[in-house]
Amino acid sequence: MKIALVTGAGRGIGREIARQLAEQGMTVFAGVRDESHAPEGTRPVLLDVTDAAVAANAAKTIGEEFGRLDVLVNNAAVCGDFGVSPADATGEHMRTTYEVSVFGVVTVTHAMIPLLRASGEGRIVNMTTRLASVALTSAREGLNAEWRMLAYNSAKSALNALTVLYANELSESGILVNAVDPGHCATDLTGHTGTRMAAEGAAVAVRMATLTGDGPTGTFSSEEGQLPW
Ligand SMILES: NC(=O)c1ccc[n+]([C@@H]2O[C@H](COP(=O)([O-])OP(=O)(O)OC[C@H]3O[C@@H](n4cnc5c(N)ncnc54)[C@H](OP(=O)(O)O)[C@@H]3O)[C@@H](O)[C@H]2O)c1
Repeated sequence: MKIALVTGAGRGIGREIARQLAEQGMTVFAGVRDESHAPEGTRPVLLDVTDAAVAANAAKTIGEEFGRLDVLVNNAAVCGDFGVSPADATGEHMRTTYEVSVFGVVTVTHAMIPLLRASGEGRIVNMTTRLASVALTSAREGLNAEWRMLAYNSAKSALNALTVLYANELSESGILVNAVDPGHCATDLTGHTGTRMAAEGAAVAVRMATLTGDGPTGTFSSEEGQLPW
């Protein structure tokens, strides 16, 4: 049986990812800040991604029982500058956003790497967005022309870079690391502006979480295929 951990699993897309992985028969630890928010069929584990001691404790809980972790989905994020133009964004907007969406990912990943290595076929899925694409932003294409958040978009560009660095570093341990864009979903993060349901957004993450050993690593994709960096 595969063991999975999903951060930010109490609501939105993360909750759906946790639910869908559990439906596939995995033992899923739902990383939550309120244990009552974990979806049915999962096991709540307290996890504020900004707290290294809490992340270490979550790793200890999983490690003591299973000795390994097969799937880590870094889903938790905040958008500290929703509706703020790049010209109005401040260092504080950046700090708030990066604290969870970048530093939080490193905090949790760092805590879980020994357990992922112990799996021998670990999978890391980083929840990113096409808004992170410097190429699409430079071309002022599609959504990237409309949604111009300085903190959120650039935090996800940093996450994309982390994805490639981790992919290269961890390939010798059989760990595949990929970044996925769930598409524009109706969740709290988007003020429910998205056209897709959270369950639809979760599907691409579940696919990357369940890759076989010959699957890709260091990629950036959505349900429609590869995205440009
Ligand atoms: N929705 C979209 O259209 C869309 C598009 C592209 C990418 N994404 C990405 O998909 C992921 C999920 O987005 P979403 O729309 O489902 O967001 P959401 O509904 O706003 O949910 C965010 C989740 O992150 C958790 N979180 C926030 N700060 C945290 C912290 N310090 N420690 C632990 N958990 C924390 C929240 O937990 P609490 O309940 O405890 O606050 C919540 O579970 C994010 O990475 C987002 O950037 C979303």
